[in-house]
Amino acid sequence: MTAPRSPSPQPEPGRPPLAHVRRVMFVCLGNICRSPLAQGVFEHLAVARDVRDDLIIASCGTGHWHVGDPPDHRSIAVARAHGVHLRSRGRQLDASCDFTAFDLLVPMDRSNLRNLLAAGCPKDRARLLLEFAPPAALAEHPEAARTLEVPDPYHGTPADFERVYRLVHAGAEGLLDAIVGPSA
Ligand code: 4NP
Repeated sequence: MTAPRSPSPQPEPGRPPLAHVRRVMFVCLGNICRSPLAQGVFEHLAVARDVRDDLIIASCGTGHWHVGDPPDHRSIAVARAHGVHLRSRGRQLDASCDFTAFDLLVPMDRSNLRNLLAAGCPKDRARLLLEFAPPAALAEHPEAARTLEVPDPYHGTPADFERVYRLVHAGAEGLLDAIVGPSA
């Protein structure tokens, strides 16, 4: 006999839609450009809202090339320019434990999302970061508004990293709102 599946937590009026989420893993391909930035910005926002100690926040890549590496110097620079310190080291997704160790996996683009699902991530645990960005914040980024993808800046310019920062910030703020409720 198969055990009945426990129902997903349902949104209740007045309760943030992701109120059950405490452990968040940001995911990209290399874990040196976008997801370390998302991790750092999300940590920074959580500190500012005084909820940092309530959350476990991490990032990883689906690829293995940068395990142990610091974030890309261009991500470090754009984060620093906005007062955000990046402290992660490259880590590869571990399909043997990450889908239970984290309540929510947050890929930067649809390729990362496909990789997660192919590795066995339950569909209801994976959400694109930009699903959480308020539409107004995406107004100046028509391509991202259409695709809900944070573009890979690895072969890009400093301006591409600034664009990635803005997108990541918009998504991270919306995600934190969805978990702990909007700031007063
Ligand atoms: P990320 O960018 O996925 O945002 O960290 C990349 C970093 C490295 C590579 C690709 C994308 N790479 O091919 O090494």
